[in-house]
Amino acid sequence: MHTSEQAKAADGVGRTWNEVDQYLDDLLIPPDPALDAALDAIAAADLPRQSVSPLQGKLLHLLARLSRARKILEIGTLGGYSAIWMARALPSGGRLISLERNPRHAAIARENIARAGLADVIDVQLGRALDSLALIHAQGLAPFDLIFIDADKQNNPAYLAWALKLSEPGSVIVVDNVVRGGGIIDAAHAHPGIRGTRRMFELIANTPGLSATAVQTVGRKGYDGFAIAIVGADAPR
Ligand code: SAH
Ligand code: DHB
Ligand code: MG
Repeated sequence: MHTSEQAKAADGVGRTWNEVDQYLDDLLIPPDPALDAALDAIAAADLPRQSVSPLQGKLLHLLARLSRARKILEIGTLGGYSAIWMARALPSGGRLISLERNPRHAAIARENIARAGLADVIDVQLGRALDSLALIHAQGLAPFDLIFIDADKQNNPAYLAWALKLSEPGSVIVVDNVVRGGGIIDAAHAHPGIRGTRRMFELIANTPGLSATAVQTVGRKGYDGFAIAIVGADAPR
């Protein structure tokens, strides 16, 4: 969390964000042994607190169902929490590939995925995402119906370019952490992740046939947001 958000979390606004998150979570997200166990295992292993929130996981799940996704690609697995949410939306025979460069993260993700009964559905590929993406392309595993970008943000422009290459008209592309407590509006920001995300938005804006929006979010992960885009017939591939 950025400093400005830590300040907010301590004051009334941040507390309300968390309490509303909890209120909606209690009503809309039924207890789920596998997802709950995944979060416990991620916390117990002291992995970064970067999993999507339960309400955000459900958003990804709903987007996968709305787009009737059969093949999903995720860049940035961590402990597999978002992957489990999305894979739960797949019809039988559906597949999800998730890319992770940290062997410890990948190992914990695989355990969580096996516990969720999704070992045959989710393929966690270990390696730098840019290498894995080239391999996936070469192996002819595209197109994907839904692509979730949530790894090292300085590479967001390259990940978006790959997402376009690995998609078809109608494919949905979602990017996490595109607001970062408002940091995104600072054109002179020194953080490579912010710079990467700004360049990604410019790329989105300059890609014909790509129709996009961004949703600002508050909640237990502070103030951040998602970009959501759908690929059109005239997008470059
Ligand atoms: N999508 C996950 C959270 C991902 S956190 C969820 O919501 O449950 C970001 C992950 O991206 C981390 O596990 C990090 O190790 C991984 N990552 C960072 N840079 C990467 C790269 N170049 N290639 C592959 N994975 C990367
Ligand atoms: C953070 C949160 C994320 O969702 C992520 O993908 C990376 C970092 C964070 O809070 O720092
Ligand atoms: Mg994220």
